[in-house]
Amino acid sequence: MTHFHGSDLEKIEAAYGIKKETIINFSSNVNPLGLSDSIKTYLPRKIELIAAYPDRNYTSLKSAIGHYINMDSENIIVGNGSTELISLCIKAISPKKALIIGPTYSEYEREINLCGGSSTYYALPENNFFEIEINHLINQFSTDLDLLVICNPNNPTSTAITAIKMKEILNACKENNIFVLIDETYVEFVDDLFNVSAIQLVHSFNNVMVIRGVSKFFAAPGLRLGYAICSSRTHILNIERFKNPWTINALAAYAGELMLMDKDYINKTQQYIATERKKIISMLSTWDFVEFINPVANFILVKILSESIDARKLFNILLEHKIMIRDASNFPFLGKQYFRFCFLHSEENDLLLKHLEDILS
Ligand SMILES: Cc1ncc(COP(=O)(O)O)c(C=O)c1O
Repeated sequence: MTHFHGSDLEKIEAAYGIKKETIINFSSNVNPLGLSDSIKTYLPRKIELIAAYPDRNYTSLKSAIGHYINMDSENIIVGNGSTELISLCIKAISPKKALIIGPTYSEYEREINLCGGSSTYYALPENNFFEIEINHLINQFSTDLDLLVICNPNNPTSTAITAIKMKEILNACKENNIFVLIDETYVEFVDDLFNVSAIQLVHSFNNVMVIRGVSKFFAAPGLRLGYAICSSRTHILNIERFKNPWTINALAAYAGELMLMDKDYINKTQQYIATERKKIISMLSTWDFVEFINPVANFILVKILSESIDARKLFNILLEHKIMIRDASNFPFLGKQYFRFCFLHSEENDLLLKHLEDILS
């Protein structure tokens, strides 16, 4: 059975005959505020940048990232979206055996398999709202494990591990010689960024790499820009051995600098998402026909309680209204009743809630 991802609008157009421009996409997890005004104004004026090769070292971009996350440029690597960095980090580690905390984003498993490694999932407990139990996780560690992958906040559960708990995990991994890849693609959407992000731990641990990108928070998935932070020079040099030069084009590099400096956009997004998240949680809390996992990011995982309808059917019914959600039933451990949606413009969210209530109640 075909499962559609948030970026599959062309496939939806072909399969359902709905023009992709008319679809309200609750599946992509992209910031609804769209591109910032500074990008729209200043990026077109820099079109001549494409007439030259980008700086091979991306010095100016790395310095902007360093400023944004308070980190030295030498600990930063930039890539063609976080996807390229996930791939390069896994290639560099080339794990024989990896553990992935799941249900989660599928790219990690795919990449580990492509490198010839084997991966297993550590299942977050469904009966405890997918809340991780650190000691239980740590008890699974052994020295034959090479890599642990954590998506934080996690897609699709929208739950997060605090930096304090992450430190315990990193310590236990260090003892067992396990490298940890943390994907923070959604971290800027959380209310308490400082209590969640593992970037502050990077200097204390040489067995961790934190990956981020601009696709979701800065609403620029077409730009293809990501970055990674690591204190291990060996790991960074190892990645650079595999990395093709210039995988970030000159316009994307310049756009990255503009985005990360745009404090107004960053604050506006955080406030907007926090407001919509609260509104949606309070509405869903009054419904007895769904259960949901308390979200910390810009999307929410919901379970349909009725047996007469599943996420696939809901997906199809909503598409008739040109609304696209994520049928989450193909994530590991999630049954056919789970779906995910992200927070869009207030009126769009209200429209989705209205349809959900009509269909599911
Ligand atoms: C958890 C996670 N990581 C990475 C990505 C890919 O991001 P990028 O566009 O930066 O390659 C996605 C996209 O959906 C994602 O959900």
